[in-house]
Amino acid sequence: MRVLVLNGPNLNLLGEREPGIYGSTSLEEICTHLSSAAEAMGITVCFAQSNHEGEIIDILHAARLECDGVILNAGAYTHYSYAIRDAIAAIKIPVVEVHLSNIHARDEFRHTSVIAPVCIGQISGFGADSYDLALTALAFRFNQGMPRLDEAKK
Ligand code: DQA
Repeated sequence: MRVLVLNGPNLNLLGEREPGIYGSTSLEEICTHLSSAAEAMGITVCFAQSNHEGEIIDILHAARLECDGVILNAGAYTHYSYAIRDAIAAIKIPVVEVHLSNIHARDEFRHTSVIAPVCIGQISGFGADSYDLALTALAFRFNQGMPRLDEAKK
């Protein structure tokens, strides 16, 4: 099983970016930790980060041919990118939406996720552990025989 961990805009600055909200762990540290957690679960993970909407869409398109699932932190695009939402809906592999912060406890504009309806679920508010929980959620889904939420994507 191969999982892509895709991070969107400004997440390359984790560790130094608003540490009171996002914590002091860098993206590199999160990726290193996830790699070993995934290895212990028999999962192969690969990583990508982009600050550009179109590139995130290209990466999602490529993932549909190379990966079994995606863990996606789309950053602020979560709240308004219908193009990323359409890309998730277009690919058949399951996507888990993650956020370090609890988006529902923050600014009003963050309460809306336009990608949530086309993801298999959302994990929000557990800091860097949100990624671990997303990996566990995907593994759980795969162990159940990998049902795809095609209904939700119609
Ligand atoms: C975020 C939450 C978003 O609202 C914000 O724009 C981010 C990070 C999170 O991980 O908590 O860039 O996705």
